[in-house]
Amino acid sequence: MIPMNLDQYLETARKAAQKAGLMLVQNIRSSREITYKGKVDLVTNFDRQSQGIIHDSIKKDFPEHDIMAEEGLRKEKGSDFRWIIDPIDGTTNYAHRFPVFSISIAVKKKGEVLVGLVFDPIRNELFTAKKGEGAYLNNQEIRVSCIEELDKSLLATGFPYDIRESELNNLDHFSHFALRCQAVRRCGSAALDLCYVASGRVDGFWEIKLAPWDTAAGVLIVREAGGVVTDFHNREFSLNKKQVLATNGKIHEQMLEVLKLGKI
Ligand code: IPD
Ligand code: CA
Ligand code: CA
Repeated sequence: MIPMNLDQYLETARKAAQKAGLMLVQNIRSSREITYKGKVDLVTNFDRQSQGIIHDSIKKDFPEHDIMAEEGLRKEKGSDFRWIIDPIDGTTNYAHRFPVFSISIAVKKKGEVLVGLVFDPIRNELFTAKKGEGAYLNNQEIRVSCIEELDKSLLATGFPYDIRESELNNLDHFSHFALRCQAVRRCGSAALDLCYVASGRVDGFWEIKLAPWDTAAGVLIVREAGGVVTDFHNREFSLNKKQVLATNGKIHEQMLEVLKLGKI
């Protein structure tokens, strides 16, 4: 097989995300069909439409690759390459026309994410990273922030869809951090939260029970921007882990200490 340049994967991902993003922006005011996957976990017809657009682009350029996307799309071809896709990260926001959501696409080869892209079509912000080659926002290199004290930090988090049923629902960590940092934001798109760590807009992000499509692209982008990503025990993060802590590195230890105060 001819070795592929990571730029070719990124180019396919970029075109797919921009096409799907345009469709999402054009339809943000349209009526939508909402169905429920759980009590508060919803999905719209536009999640599936976005997934279809992205799938078609990948299939055209890399027909032999595996694909895993949130809304039930699995293509197992036995390839070393797997595309991991969230067609709308921030579905609850999109369903309510709250303009914060993204498209997340990552390319993984044998367990290692090589390319990550997160696109915010409302702000036209394209976050990208290739393994070992830095992280970018609209082609300008980005770095994590320099804030050294948790006390002076702006943090981001989110809550799992089983918030009403499970005691492991992040409310304990949320209240501990709210008293120890400048503020905590809950934007509704974990992929964007990670990119905001990467670009220094927030200094740290933690969340539980995320899926691989929420984190695959964003974690690479944070690392390539100089950030640190682990679980709540400071062990290496992997896509199937249920905890993610992503920071500028400088406040990582301080956040780990606060996480110990809650259920982990
Ligand atoms: C959700 C968002 C949200 C996070 C949830 C995710 P979805 O993804 O990333 O910020 O708090 O846990 O499931 O359902 O909008 O793709
Ligand atoms: Ca998601
Ligand atoms: Ca989604």
